[in-house]
Amino acid sequence: MPTFAVLTAAGSGTRLGAALPKALVPVGDVPMLVRAAQGLADAGVAGIVVTAPAERIDDFSNLVTPLPGHPDLPVEVVAGGASRQASVAAGMATLPALAQRCGATLGDSSVVLVHDAARCLTPPVMIERVIAAVKDGCEAVIPALAVTDTVKQVASAHSDSPAGTEPRYVVATPDRSTLVSVQTPQGFRWSTLQAAHEAGRERGAQEGTAATDDAGLVEAMGGRVHVVEGDGMALKITTTKDLLFVEAMMKVLERRHNNS
Ligand code: CTP
Ligand code: MG
Repeated sequence: MPTFAVLTAAGSGTRLGAALPKALVPVGDVPMLVRAAQGLADAGVAGIVVTAPAERIDDFSNLVTPLPGHPDLPVEVVAGGASRQASVAAGMATLPALAQRCGATLGDSSVVLVHDAARCLTPPVMIERVIAAVKDGCEAVIPALAVTDTVKQVASAHSDSPAGTEPRYVVATPDRSTLVSVQTPQGFRWSTLQAAHEAGRERGAQEGTAATDDAGLVEAMGGRVHVVEGDGMALKITTTKDLLFVEAMMKVLERRHNNS
């Protein structure tokens, strides 16, 4: 049964602060959007719905239809929403039509991935791990890495201080061995993803209440989310420092590859 994907790329990239929407920013000369879509295609995904900022749909479509290296892969670009969660919902609404274009039907047990364009260097082998776990019967699957820093839960000492400037104090130190840091793509049975978004739909109207990942919506409705091993290369590019870091890392890997 074919696997389909929603690739979220409708964010503006406020923290990156580039002149372009984040997904159009090049990493090693190739826009993040294209790299992320190619990673999904290399992992065997049969079709992709991309969420784009409403005013950039044409620019996004020009980059991924056809997708370089995968000219026959069906890709649709749709306008995203006010939050990542709303963007995923918009992408999901187009999935049945995309599946039809691929000559397939989206059934309850079809595998659907949700992936961030900002994780544009995710290795296809990690994506394949997520797909395999859903095919093995898990209704929701996340790739995750062990946390290496000690993580503290904090609270604001004064609720009336401007955000980010308030004095804070530590409330708790969760046992690190029970914590993981979560990546994408996350994989779902289609019926589970639909039910989770349906149950949590109202949260998606604003960034403040929206789920930051789709597995969170499955958890909220009492579903079981399985964990598979993530990969350091699946890091999310959020800040300029992340961009500089991945570009430097790519140069080192390229040099190693050329010398081998
Ligand atoms: N995203 C989306 N729709 C939104 C917000 C985010 O499709 N309304 C996508 C982004 O394009 C990104 C992914 O969700 O690929 C993860 O979001 P994030 O890394 O936070 O990206 P941005 O929201 O673009 O960045 P920032 O929060 O710094 O503005
Ligand atoms: Mg964001």
